[in-house]
Parts: sequence; structure tokens; C-alpha cells
Amino acid sequence: MTDTVPRLTLNDGRTIPQLGFGVFQIPPAEAEKAVRTALDIGYRHIDTAEMYGNEREVGRGIAASGLDRADVFVTSKLNNGFHRPDDARRAFDATLEALGADYVDLFLVHWPLPTLYGGDFVSTWRALEEFASDGRARSIGVSNFQPAHLERLAAETDIVPAVNQIEVHPYLTQETVRAYDRAHGIVTEAWSPIAQGKVLGDQVVATVADSVERTPAQVVLRWHIQRGDVVFPKSVTPARMEENFAIFDFTLDAEAMAALDGLDRGERTGPDPDTFDYIPG
Ligand SMILES: NC(=O)c1ccc[n+]([C@@H]2O[C@H](COP(=O)([O-])OP(=O)(O)OC[C@H]3O[C@@H](n4cnc5c(N)ncnc54)[C@H](OP(=O)(O)O)[C@@H]3O)[C@@H](O)[C@H]2O)c1
Repeated sequence: MTDTVPRLTLNDGRTIPQLGFGVFQIPPAEAEKAVRTALDIGYRHIDTAEMYGNEREVGRGIAASGLDRADVFVTSKLNNGFHRPDDARRAFDATLEALGADYVDLFLVHWPLPTLYGGDFVSTWRALEEFASDGRARSIGVSNFQPAHLERLAAETDIVPAVNQIEVHPYLTQETVRAYDRAHGIVTEAWSPIAQGKVLGDQVVATVADSVERTPAQVVLRWHIQRGDVVFPKSVTPARMEENFAIFDFTLDAEAMAALDGLDRGERTGPDPDTFDYIPG
């Protein structure tokens, strides 16, 4: 089953499964079971974050699966409250401890927070460079970075982020940020790939789904895969987890891809990275 998920090569030479399982908004009490179920279905890539409050349960789910740690690609992200380098170092130690792991496959700066910390996300990135150097983060990347933020990292730091995890779905196709990422060897990861369900009732999506005899979620996820982005839909519903995994035995033709591309209306479901300034209490 897992052989069906392609792997993309990152700019540091490592590879990442193009389809994973997201655990945002899965309460800790449900997260271990959800991760176990996902791994049983065949997912081998879990996307969590310190701010999701479920790293410990994610780690337990992976351990309980009986899979080798090396066979599961695990991403976590730095809490917005810990951008200062010493805080980032402590937070990264805590992430590894919670996951019960001595490394993560990918560690991200969750948000750039350009209006906080005096606009300094550069020293934060340098802390992540340390985690990459000491091998505890196999790859490092960013999330919700706009091209201007990436330009600053390019000018002032050594390592180009391996990924940029941003909101992408048919109502927010993000061509500008994706083009920047592509031109600089950064893989785009698409968060909220089905816009938390909002795109599934769209008539155009329904028409494409009918034409290939698949569900709306499957055609939207397939659209992301064919665009070359990484996706990790979230679900606590086992039948949907199976549905979202079964997207590698059909293709969308150019007309279907263009129809979904055409749905862009610049509509975010989440915050704007240029102004987002949330720090957990
Ligand atoms: N870096 C960031 O700032 C950031 C922000 C947001 C998300 N993310 C990551 O991206 C992942 C995915 O994004 P997301 O959780 O916001 O949204 P999403 O994956 O686009 O959508 C999840 C929602 O869709 C429902 N759903 C899932 N599969 C479905 C299907 N086949 N048919 C109908 N409904 C379906 C789920 O319901 P049930 O669970 O009830 O089945 C849930 O309500 C997150 O879990 C997280 O890992 C990152």
C-alpha cells in the first residue's frame, strides 16, 4: 500500500512522502488512536506541531504501531511563543521528549510573526540551523512564509528551507508563493488542502468528481498531488482516512486540472501570515 505514495526529494537530498496525515484539532485523547489508524491504513507521514497539543499522543501512536521509527516521516513545528533562540532550543528539546524520539524528520518555524519579536525570525531560523547541524532535525523548513520573508532568510542565513508549508486549496491556489518556492528549490506543502471541507460542495469539484467517478475530497487531493505539492489531510473518521489515501490509481486530465485551478478566489480559511500575531496563553 505505502509503495503507492510517491516521495519528493528535498533540497537537502532527503525525501518526503507526498501524502501524509495532519493532526491539527485532533484532541489529545483521540490523537493516539487516529495516528494508529492512519498508520494501519498505510500513511507514513504525520504532520503535527507543538501548538496542536498532541505531540505526546502522536509519539505514542507511532510507537504502538510497531513500525520502525525510520519508516514514519514525522514533522513538528515551533510554538509561536518560542521564537527567541534560547526558547527555541528548549522547545525543540521538549518536542523530541514529547514525541519520544531522538530526531524529527522535519522541523518548521510555524509562523513568521513579522509584527512580533521586533520582526526577527532570522535568529529563530538560525536556531533551526543548529538542530539540522546536530542531526536532531533531519530537515528544516518554514510555514506560512511569504516571499519577502524567504528573501530575508536567503540574504541573512545559510540554509535554504527544505519546505514552506502554506494554506493551499482550490479557493486559494497561491501561485505567487508556490512559484517563489519552486524557483528556489523549496517544496510547497499545502495545509488545509480541502479548506477544512469548504471546497467539497463546490459544483465544479462535483462535476470533476463525477467525471472520474471519485469523491470530491479525492479529486481535490489528487489536484494537489499533480501540482507537485505535499498534502496531509486531517480526519478522525476512518472511512475518510481511507478515502483520502486512495488517490494514486487515477489521474486528472489537463481540463479537470484547469477547472480546479480556475476556482481560485484568494480566499483564506486561516490567518494572513503578514499580520498573524497569536501567542498561546
Ligand atoms: N502550518 C499551519 O499553519 C497549518 C495550519 C492548518 C493546518 N495545518 C496542517 O494541515 C493539516 C490539514 O489541514 P486542516 O486540518 O486544517 O484541514 P483539512 O485537512 O483541509 O480538512 C479537515 C476537515 O475536513 C474533514 N474531512 C477530511 N476528509 C474528508 C473527506 N474525505 N470528506 C469529507 N470531509 C473530510 C475533516 O472531518 P473529520 O475529521 O470529522 O473526519 C475535518 O473537518 C492539519 O491537520 C495540519 O497538520 C497546518
